[in-house]
Amino acid sequence: MRQKLLRLGADELTYEIRGIVKKAELLVNLGYDVLWENIGDPIQKNKKLPDWMKEIIASILKEDYSYGYSHSKGLLETRKFLATRCNQLGGVQIQPEDITFFNGLGDAIQKIYQYLLPTSRIIGPSPSYSTHSSAEAAHANNHPITYRLDPNNRWFPDIEDLRLKVKYNENLVGIMVINPDNPTGMVYPQRILEDIIAIAREFNLFLIFDEIYMNIVYNGAERCTLAEVIGDAPGISLKGISKEFPWPGARCGWAEYYNRTSDKDFEKLCETIDNSKMIEVSSTRLPQLAIPRIMSDPRYPDYLIETNKRIGQRSKYLEEFFADIPYIQFNKTNGAFYNTIIFKEGVLKPDQSMLIADEKVKNMLEGWLKPDLALDKRFVYYLLMAKQVCVVPISSFSSDLRGFRITLLEENEDQLKETLSRVRSGILEYCK
Ligand SMILES: Cc1ncc(COP(=O)(O)O)c(C=O)c1O
Repeated sequence: MRQKLLRLGADELTYEIRGIVKKAELLVNLGYDVLWENIGDPIQKNKKLPDWMKEIIASILKEDYSYGYSHSKGLLETRKFLATRCNQLGGVQIQPEDITFFNGLGDAIQKIYQYLLPTSRIIGPSPSYSTHSSAEAAHANNHPITYRLDPNNRWFPDIEDLRLKVKYNENLVGIMVINPDNPTGMVYPQRILEDIIAIAREFNLFLIFDEIYMNIVYNGAERCTLAEVIGDAPGISLKGISKEFPWPGARCGWAEYYNRTSDKDFEKLCETIDNSKMIEVSSTRLPQLAIPRIMSDPRYPDYLIETNKRIGQRSKYLEEFFADIPYIQFNKTNGAFYNTIIFKEGVLKPDQSMLIADEKVKNMLEGWLKPDLALDKRFVYYLLMAKQVCVVPISSFSSDLRGFRITLLEENEDQLKETLSRVRSGILEYCK
């Protein structure tokens, strides 16, 4: 081309959750069935929406009005409904104007970071869900800035690490938190959230809380939302239906702006995010019509309880399969539907392997094993090619730790146990 086309930030746009699929598809092309553990899509893992929910959605589809655009911020009725739900928590109070809909939270995440000055940075967790860290890093033409989630302390944020990083980096303007967390499956107690908010207040930062998993909490864990503890600090809560209904194909999520007028720059940021939605016209209308009808249905709370109970049960299976493996470290989860399993220090080495009888598969794998390959990626490639299980390496979640993420989504119990047993035997064989 006559001029260079891309800025440096383009290199930060990696998404191993999908990237590993390209490799797994090569295995499928050789005639193998793969157990997909790479993505948090409950539908792909055999989750069925209940009939009453489908009937609500089908009845909306019969109405002509469901086929139009919606208001660029989203349907007013739905925003009123969600603002009331937020206000009922008894914390920060919002109006329908403080809510904006997006085509999934992925869309919201892009727009939130996109217009920030490249030098104005948001610190996020490590390990981190890569849609956030990639989008933030791409806006800054630099690598993500992260605070540590501590595997030795139930994956809770290392508050001292966060505080020091914020204190000594004047470019930090915001703190991003995912609660319940992807990829660790942790739910943070109120005191942790209060500590984070106190840091934001002390250094005049705003907060971004991704709370897409807020209604997926199990094993008796307590949940606490940003709305309940933010007080008068500026912040954005991100929510959606991809995981909760679950309806990821609807591409529907929303941002709730808290205390947007408390700071001029923050107010302008919220306005800019809304303007970027406006030039795109509007977000998906059908799910916005469905949200109040489904969420206010008397069957909805029981449905969530039942769904969460099942995820909690799967978290126990995971424990049964992995608890006695000496090479790994993992924490019991109580939210979202992932677990991050870490290899203990020094366990992974560049000469480990699993038996692969098929020469074609073996040759393909050998072509991927470059000398600078992260050791957890190497394990993940072996697990894929030898055991046909597709998980995501933790080094792809902005982390120096070495491990992998697995989901707690498989509805079919036999299939779930088969997956866990293959992963278990893969670890034992690889690390022995
Ligand atoms: C923490 C988190 N935020 C956002 C998303 C994206 O959700 P959506 O389907 O609404 O784009 C995901 C999807 O996995 C997620 O885990």
